[in-house]
Amino acid sequence: MPLSARRRLAAACALAALIVPTGCEQVRSKIAPPQFEPPKITLDVGRRVESELGMVVSIDEAASRAGAWILAEGGNAVDAAIATAFALAVTHPQAGNIGGGGFMIIHTPEGEVDAVDYRETAPLAFDHDVFLDERGGLDRRKRSDPFLLVGVPGTIAGLHLAHEKYGSRSWNVLLQPAIDLAQKGFVVPPLLAADVYANREKLAMHPATRNLFFDAQGRPIEAGTRLVQPELASVLRAVATEGPDVFYTGWIAKAVAQHVENNGGLLRANDFARYDAKWRKPIRTEIATGELYGMPPPSSGGVAVPQILGILAGYQLGAIDPVGPIVAHITAEAMRRAFRDRAHYLGDPDFSAIPVADLLNQKHIDSMRESIDLARATKSGTLWPEPVPAGGTETTHFSVIDRNGMAVSNTTTLEQQFGGGIIVGGLGFLLNNELGDFNAKAGMTDARGNIGTAANLPDSSKRPLSSMTPSIFSRNGKVEVITGSPGGRTIINTVAQVLFRRILLGQEPTQCVWAPRMHHQWFPDQLVLERDRWPEQTIEQLKQRGHTIVYRDRLGSAQSIFRDEYNKFIGVGDRRRDGWAAAPNIILPAGYYVNKPKK
Ligand code: GLY
Repeated sequence: MPLSARRRLAAACALAALIVPTGCEQVRSKIAPPQFEPPKITLDVGRRVESELGMVVSIDEAASRAGAWILAEGGNAVDAAIATAFALAVTHPQAGNIGGGGFMIIHTPEGEVDAVDYRETAPLAFDHDVFLDERGGLDRRKRSDPFLLVGVPGTIAGLHLAHEKYGSRSWNVLLQPAIDLAQKGFVVPPLLAADVYANREKLAMHPATRNLFFDAQGRPIEAGTRLVQPELASVLRAVATEGPDVFYTGWIAKAVAQHVENNGGLLRANDFARYDAKWRKPIRTEIATGELYGMPPPSSGGVAVPQILGILAGYQLGAIDPVGPIVAHITAEAMRRAFRDRAHYLGDPDFSAIPVADLLNQKHIDSMRESIDLARATKSGTLWPEPVPAGGTETTHFSVIDRNGMAVSNTTTLEQQFGGGIIVGGLGFLLNNELGDFNAKAGMTDARGNIGTAANLPDSSKRPLSSMTPSIFSRNGKVEVITGSPGGRTIINTVAQVLFRRILLGQEPTQCVWAPRMHHQWFPDQLVLERDRWPEQTIEQLKQRGHTIVYRDRLGSAQSIFRDEYNKFIGVGDRRRDGWAAAPNIILPAGYYVNKPKK
């Protein structure tokens, strides 16, 4: 029986009788989890780290260390990924989460590749008209109502699904670093303080969120102070000891649903009980004598990235300056065409037929390439007359590999930074506002470039289209690149550029991650360049070709791992945000510390 069916049964019996705690003091764990302390070894930690014993690269130093500790104790890449994901939910609340969702790709040492879809799902009561007013027009208040935008969180179900099949260490042990970070606290890094400040209005609107991120005088939390989260620690402890059911059918589901209902949202406890994370078949494409594995719909990156790379692979670009005007122009044109297809065809595959094979057919990719004019920018309006919907701006990606070559590429999100800013009193974690990733209204175009193509319209129990693009590139079954990024629709182009530089141009790992980036998404018809990073001459020539140039301070944050020709793993933290690579420099005997093998 699928997990959700088992849960429905359990929920029917249990929910009515459950006493929902109003504060963390009422949370009780059935068994006490083991106390986690860092093993007495040195980890290698930095922006660029080399190791043969495994690697974790994430946006946060404490989270990378948590995963690397699990590797040091002989845990595999999936174990380390689970520990890293839960640690990020504590130390990187901008996007790390248990209230959101994501996608994970797993590559085994034997060359098998699996994908977990733990995307958030719309409530049963959601429908096509959810963002419309009585007269059928777009209701902008509904479109941005954080309570209406909460989807059923998928993270705990997704991590647990991966653990059931691939985990080698006990589930509760893998949550222990996160529990400790929440219970004992951690020193707030400058990035978190800056992001809280930037989001202060949204975060101050919800009492439990305000209590967490502001002091008694209402000042946002500062870098260098200690952030302790006992309520989150209690929730994590319950999930560690009781498993996902406490989240999906127990008091956590009920408390979230009650709070959302009280504030006019549509999410209910039975939506939690019906949730299932899903195994999906990764999209496999052959490129540069290797295999690229990407996430299928409801992600769009697994289609768009091989389209972009397939277009670029048809040119002889090896000897040409990668930040010069020719490569920049062709790359922008490839992005423009991939995003046209994304807007028109992609959505939740459980709701409409998605022509993935046709979109990746070599003839289609060749025709995309043939339509590129090397001397002129194509006007997006001549490719297709409709613009695409806006995407989210905050997400986080981490990459993991263990000493046996098992790899995990995981991207997870709350949609915007800190989701909709909602923390339910007593629970300590932020809720996503992911359902804003649905198109607003069928056929509607507005000044920001939104559109309502059918495949991604809202619907009951549907998953919104995502740009998250966790990716793994391997040759002969051996993993060579693990990458992904946050950044809404820019994710796709960030991942494409990292892979382009590594697998088509053969560049050194730090160059692949740190080099200047660009972004084109068809509509708005403009080419986004990272500010102050592109040569003046390139910009001038792009303008002469007819590109409208706009600038952004940074594009993406690609926490990546590469394998070099000596079989060494190179972890590269993306300097644009705060990426950290961590690697064990010793592997302890199994069970040496607390990390006992799974029974
Ligand atoms: N919310 C960002 C994405 O899924 O693409």
